[in-house]
Amino acid sequence: MSNALAADLTKPVPRYTSYPTAPHFHTGIDQRQYEAWLAELPADARVSLYLHLPFCDRLCWFCGCHTKQVNRYVPVTQYLVALKAEIARIGAIVGARPVTAIHWGGGSPSLLAAEDVAAVTALIRSTFNVQPTAEFSVELDPSDMEDAKFDAWAAAGLTRASIGVQDFDPKVQVAINRLQSFDQTKVVVDAMRSRGVGSVNIDMLYGLPHQTIDGAAATARQVVSLRPDRVALFGYAHVPWIKKHQTMIAEDALPDSQARFAQAAAAADVLRAAGYIAIGFDHFALPHDGMAKASVDGSLQRNFQGYTVDAHDALIGLGASAIGRLPQGYVQNVVATGDYQRRAISGEGTVARGIALSDDDRLRGFVIERLMCDFEVDFAALRQRFGAAAEPVICEAVALAMEDQRGFVTMRPGLLQVTMAGRPFVRTLAARFDAYLADDTARYSKAV
Ligand SMILES: C[S@@+](CC[C@H](N)C(=O)[O-])C[C@H]1O[C@@H](n2cnc3c(N)ncnc32)[C@H](O)[C@@H]1O
Ligand code: SF4
Repeated sequence: MSNALAADLTKPVPRYTSYPTAPHFHTGIDQRQYEAWLAELPADARVSLYLHLPFCDRLCWFCGCHTKQVNRYVPVTQYLVALKAEIARIGAIVGARPVTAIHWGGGSPSLLAAEDVAAVTALIRSTFNVQPTAEFSVELDPSDMEDAKFDAWAAAGLTRASIGVQDFDPKVQVAINRLQSFDQTKVVVDAMRSRGVGSVNIDMLYGLPHQTIDGAAATARQVVSLRPDRVALFGYAHVPWIKKHQTMIAEDALPDSQARFAQAAAAADVLRAAGYIAIGFDHFALPHDGMAKASVDGSLQRNFQGYTVDAHDALIGLGASAIGRLPQGYVQNVVATGDYQRRAISGEGTVARGIALSDDDRLRGFVIERLMCDFEVDFAALRQRFGAAAEPVICEAVALAMEDQRGFVTMRPGLLQVTMAGRPFVRTLAARFDAYLADDTARYSKAV
């Protein structure tokens, strides 16, 4: 990749886990509006639950998640009181609507004591109508895990363990303040599998300080030796103006855009050679996995957790900073953990902001999601869904294809397709359909 091309194509753009993106949420959407939207959901609406635990017992310097390091368990216990109050309140409105997926993220839900895993899961199952086939996944930091916790998550009905690795090179690990051996990781994979947890995901990162192309490939080889069903290969988002602890990372040790691109390609080559299928711009899955199948049959989706096969009508976010997606729009809980706890327990309500979707938001959101998931936009599908309103956006797609000098997109009858060469830049291509970006002052991370 030439320098000019790298500069142009790696301009900061959103990751499009929603459209409109979170910086456009506003305080005009409140708890009252949220609960009215929830009550309007059809009786058979499929509901997905996301629970956020904003605590860790370590602070990795690269971390971009909403979390806080704690050295004692008391703050977690106090937080769970609030979370349980929110579960009870929202569960009473959602009622018997079927819950098809539960995901715990963070932070590190692996911090939860075994008895709390059991207690919160029991509350969820007694409050919501959790389907017997529901997916149940959790993000685990291997350094938190021990036998009692493995047992508790398995007994709670876990179906997927998502394990953070990032990079196995000790020099990189020191530079990001995250020491984690291969053996420590293998213990978690084996423990979950031996307890019947059917699916394992591993998170890797490229673009870390001191990371090299060979190092990224070496980590990928170690990862595939564990045979996870899925692998997420994320580009490190360096946003020290938002995440102050990232200033601990020496910027002169960070790879430039070309090196990031080469690291991602080297890791992807190892994954593909080991039989993994590339999905979207940052996921891989073995052919038997539902995500590999969804990437072929057009049912892949994108939400705040990234790519997902969980076909839901409503995503309900529970916990500090959690985001929900309802047919009518997005809502986000208050970010500060103390405020969240106070508002959940006092009954004031936890929603701080959100956005109601306009017809144009739905149309552009659909185009962006299909580009990110399928690498194509089908004009007939657009017309069928949105009628005449689709025409101006189809014209924008045609204009994009005509302007393209790099072979990143191609026009086929009734289709705009992203080529193999264009796939790493799909965020940048999707941004062409973002009506908010022109006057956007929010700063995003690098596209590649
Ligand atoms: C909530 S965290 C992981 C769960 C668990 N706390 C752990 O660290 O193992 C989810 C994933 O987000 C990714 N992540 C965190 N900070 C990031 C950043 N600044 N840029 C890109 N990905 C990031 C990491 O790959 C991480 O495993
Ligand atoms: S990467 Fe995971 S363990 Fe590390 S600080 Fe972030 S959420 Fe916590």
